[in-house]
Amino acid sequence: MTDAVQRPRRVLVLGGTAWLGRAIVTELLAGGSDVVCLARGSSGDVPEGATLVRADRTEAGAYDAVASEEWDEVVELAYLTELVGPALDALADSARHWTLVSSVSVYARDDVAGDDESAPLVEPTDPSDYAHAKVLAERATCERLSDRLLVVRPGLIVGPGDGSDRFGYWPARFARGGTVLVPETRQRAVQVVDVRDLAAFVVRAAVRGVVGVVDAVGEPWSFDDVLGLVGEVADARATAEPGGAAAREVVVADDAWLLAHDVRWWAGPRSLPLWLPVEAVGFARRAGVRFRELDGPRTTMRETVERVLDDEVQRGLDRERRSGLPAQLEAALVRELVAGKVSRD
Ligand SMILES: NC(=O)c1ccc[n+]([C@@H]2O[C@H](COP(=O)([O-])OP(=O)(O)OC[C@H]3O[C@@H](n4cnc5c(N)ncnc54)[C@H](OP(=O)(O)O)[C@@H]3O)[C@@H](O)[C@H]2O)c1
Repeated sequence: MTDAVQRPRRVLVLGGTAWLGRAIVTELLAGGSDVVCLARGSSGDVPEGATLVRADRTEAGAYDAVASEEWDEVVELAYLTELVGPALDALADSARHWTLVSSVSVYARDDVAGDDESAPLVEPTDPSDYAHAKVLAERATCERLSDRLLVVRPGLIVGPGDGSDRFGYWPARFARGGTVLVPETRQRAVQVVDVRDLAAFVVRAAVRGVVGVVDAVGEPWSFDDVLGLVGEVADARATAEPGGAAAREVVVADDAWLLAHDVRWWAGPRSLPLWLPVEAVGFARRAGVRFRELDGPRTTMRETVERVLDDEVQRGLDRERRSGLPAQLEAALVRELVAGKVSRD
């Protein structure tokens, strides 16, 4: 065999110190690649086995330590124009394949279900807006690398270690028991990609030289079914432990009531995570055909919920969260909701 066949792939990850980047680096290392990560290191360390080249990409000379090499693969996790542009100037000509992690947020419409990668994108006018910046990053990268470029547009990424605390709110909340405040879920959808599947997909697709655009999304689920599954998983876990499952009751509030009480959509403080306006039917119902054809989704929703609940238990079910209702606020809302219902009856 020739030396070229035997040598490990040399992969440069622009990032690699945060959640998804670390997962991709872990997969790359498991597959035998040599991995160099370029980042400041302020989001964390790189996984053991990877080399971190510390640099602030907004500064001159940031790419000096990596620009003289021919990379088999470059994975870009950032999207700010001031990071993406100089990286392309320094590295585009010497990369055999490039993966840009974008987002389904680039799509202009969220009121149409079943759209694929050909759907229109937002017209970028404001680089400080996440979706606009992602479109600008895609355009700039495509101009330089078109036939060597894979653009991966993930939907909601979920799994252990998710710092956004969105998806994990529900398994953690159901596992705590008591009275759980939920939104109306029947007409709502949830569509996720497990971080493990996404990381593995990025690595496999690069090795196979996949190019073009792929929405990295699993099958759409109804929010109702997701919460049903979350309840089952929480109960199964609790019954296997001393003390058994905590008693649980679910109280449903309608959209108008929640909004009137300053409960927020989707994510962040005072939110009911994953709750979206009914009109946003397209947001969590993308087609995802290409991702499935490329064998992207491998983890079932049940496995994902189990993995997330294990992680939530480890991190502490009562910890402060970035998304969701704190216990005292939820209890106060439930009291008010129930009192209102009683007085109307
Ligand atoms: N979470 C979701 O549900 C979701 C959905 C769709 C798409 N996405 C996309 O998925 C990706 C997530 O990536 P991630 O979890 O690894 O986290 P991230 O925080 O988005 O990654 C940014 C990386 O860039 C590095 N970086 C930022 N500013 C830098 C600078 N000035 N100089 C050098 N490096 C810099 C950070 O490292 P340092 O801070 O250490 O420098 C970090 O490793 C993002 O592209 C995100 O937009 C996420």
